[in-house]
Amino acid sequence: MKILIIGADGFIGCHLVDHILTKKPNWEIHTLDLSNNNLAEYQSHPKLFTTQGDMTKMSDWIEEKIKLCDVVLPLAAIATPATYVQDPLKIFSLDFEANLAIIRLCVKHSKRVIFPSTSEVYGMCTDSEFDEEKSHLILGPIHKERWIYSCSKQLIDRLIFAYGKRNGLPYTLFRPFNWIGPKQDNIKNSKTGGSRVVIQFLGNILRGENIQLVDGGRQHRSFVYVEDGIEALVKIIENTDNCASGRIFNIGNPHNISSIRSLAETLLELAQKYPQHEANAKKVQLMDIPAADYYGTGYQDVQARVPAIWRAQTHLQWQPKTDLITSLSKTVDYYLHDAS
Ligand code: UGA
Repeated sequence: MKILIIGADGFIGCHLVDHILTKKPNWEIHTLDLSNNNLAEYQSHPKLFTTQGDMTKMSDWIEEKIKLCDVVLPLAAIATPATYVQDPLKIFSLDFEANLAIIRLCVKHSKRVIFPSTSEVYGMCTDSEFDEEKSHLILGPIHKERWIYSCSKQLIDRLIFAYGKRNGLPYTLFRPFNWIGPKQDNIKNSKTGGSRVVIQFLGNILRGENIQLVDGGRQHRSFVYVEDGIEALVKIIENTDNCASGRIFNIGNPHNISSIRSLAETLLELAQKYPQHEANAKKVQLMDIPAADYYGTGYQDVQARVPAIWRAQTHLQWQPKTDLITSLSKTVDYYLHDAS
């Protein structure tokens, strides 16, 4: 199996590369990314072929690799909500336009594509669990610019579906629901909203800053440990008996639900166990902040987001295994163990 991963140095990409290189000795990986920081340790691996570059300027290279490989994973995307609000045009040009060009090349060469949709496509859906084929995708008005990410991803989902139905494009869509773990975001990024919530809070704790709970932190998310998510993704790539062909899978853990306030409290407790961070962690207070003050008026939140995962359980024979406290402990350990 030859796999092309675009955006392989990001959170999902680097864990996927790690898993494949350690557990799938016959698979060959070709990657493209602007950076190679997270992949640096595998540079000399005989099954990994990395290239550094800007995907928007390398269409010939990408087309050659698409012809060479059996399956394509276009993982490059900006996925921090603050950026959706601050720079929606950048979200559109990377997450939509640049990825659409890759999808079209997959159509041209009839190459199997595995596309990262997102839990965000469900928007403000009020179902207790979001179902890939039944739940409605509910977004706010145009001036709530946060939804450009969701909308961009949704339109690519719809295009891939249409290409699959009309042009025979082989595809699978997967929807990560708040994957967490090592190498997610850069903890040294001190910008408000610069990281997704777990790393944002850990960065606050590391720097002894107060944690800001948007609208009081009453909103809920369900978190899944990255290794569990990667196991599902590898099963999708394997596609035994075509179990993943033409399907959409939510990949999350419906048992790992937490309010954002309770998440902050748990992270503070965990951080206090590290002697070098205890003093800072004890200093941190939980402060409520209105969403408009934190993100700007273009933001609108998702109050609760839980995946239905029976399709992944049934078709992929997959089950998330890591509970919330273990997922958080492993993440905290990665970020705080050696940090000073
Ligand atoms: C994320 C991102 O959109 C994507 O990474 C992804 O597609 C999707 O979720 C996913 O991983 O499933 P969201 O969960 O809203 O969206 O993003 P976070 O930045 O992780 O925020 C989670 C919650 O924490 C939000 O309600 C946010 O308002 C809150 N928050 C965040 C705070 O209360 N304080 C902060 O400092 C940061």
